[in-house]
Parts: sequence; structure tokens; C-alpha cells
Amino acid sequence: MKKLDIQSATQLLHENMQNKNLRKHCYAVGKTLSEFYDFFMNEGREVGGLTKEQWEIVGILHDADWEKTTDNPDRHVFELLSWLEDYDIPEEMLNAFQTHNYKMTKIREPQTLLEWTLECCDELTGFIVAIALVMPNKKLSEVNTESIFKKFKQKEFAKAVEREQILQCKEKVGIVPEKFVEITLKAMQENSELLGL
Ligand SMILES: [Fe+2]
Ligand SMILES: [Fe+2]
Repeated sequence: MKKLDIQSATQLLHENMQNKNLRKHCYAVGKTLSEFYDFFMNEGREVGGLTKEQWEIVGILHDADWEKTTDNPDRHVFELLSWLEDYDIPEEMLNAFQTHNYKMTKIREPQTLLEWTLECCDELTGFIVAIALVMPNKKLSEVNTESIFKKFKQKEFAKAVEREQILQCKEKVGIVPEKFVEITLKAMQENSELLGL
């Protein structure tokens, strides 16, 4: 059994995903989950048995098979799960992967705090990238929560982003959208170099 840490997870991602922007999406979700882990710990929330590093790995790998399954979106996550059979992985982490793309795969609906946080921040990170790209210098530092909510209401902007999925944070994660967006943006801004924005 292989060991799964940030390094081997990133390697697995890179072996299976060549598109740099897709990779950056995975890093963004990883860094965001890691930021949320700290936030929940500070708030005394029940984060479960995984470490902060393992939360980040969930983000790094959640879309690792996306490039290979683009033409068969209902296979997305199944490929990843088959690759992960070679790795020593806690059940909680495996469960989290199984919830991603659950609407198509029907494997497992999100249940835990980690799983719902992944579900809600996934689309949001993409939305924030879309906003950064229309800023004068295309920088994450030019984005603020106000501009995010403004764009949120513009239905034509980044149409593919499912707003509803993000807004579930209130009910499912127990964080109001304003705060959820603030934490996600902070995580991304602190990793702007990695994200190239
Ligand atoms: Fe995905
Ligand atoms: Fe994703």
C-alpha cells in the first residue's frame, strides 16, 4: 500500500491531469478546505478524525480524474476511486471522495462537515477565479466579498456556476454565505502565487 500525503497526492494529480488551470482548481479547493479546517477547529466544531493535511488532500484529489472522464461525466470519481485502491486511506477520506459528483454517481450523498464544505466551496472557487479574470490586473487581490456577491446576482456571469450549490453552506455547513465566501477568498488570496492569479 502506498502512502498518501500532500506530495504523493499532488503527484497522482499531475500524472492524470495535464491542464494547468484544472490543476489550479484542485489546489484552490485543497487550500480552501485546509483554511476551513482551521476555522472549524477555532470554532470548536466537530471536524472528524482527519488531519488538516488530509482535508487538503481531499481538495487536491477530488477532481483528479476529471480530465480523463470529461467525455463520461458519470465516471468522474469512479476512476479516482480505482486509483486510490493502491493507497492506504482512512475510510473517512474515502467517503469524502465518494460524495463528490454524487448527483451523477449516486455513490454517497454528502453528510459530514468536510463533505458539505467540499460540496459548497467547489463551485465557489471557480466563481472567484472567474471574477479575478475580469479584474483590471487579473489578480485575486482585486477581488473582495462585495464584488463576489455583486457578480453572484448577475445570472449571465459565469453561468455554469451553480449558485444554489454554494448557498447550501448556510443549512449544511452552518456558516452564512458572507462568511463562507470570506474564508474561501482568504484561502485563495493567501495562495495567489500557487494559483497564478
Ligand atoms: Fe468534480
Ligand atoms: Fe471541483
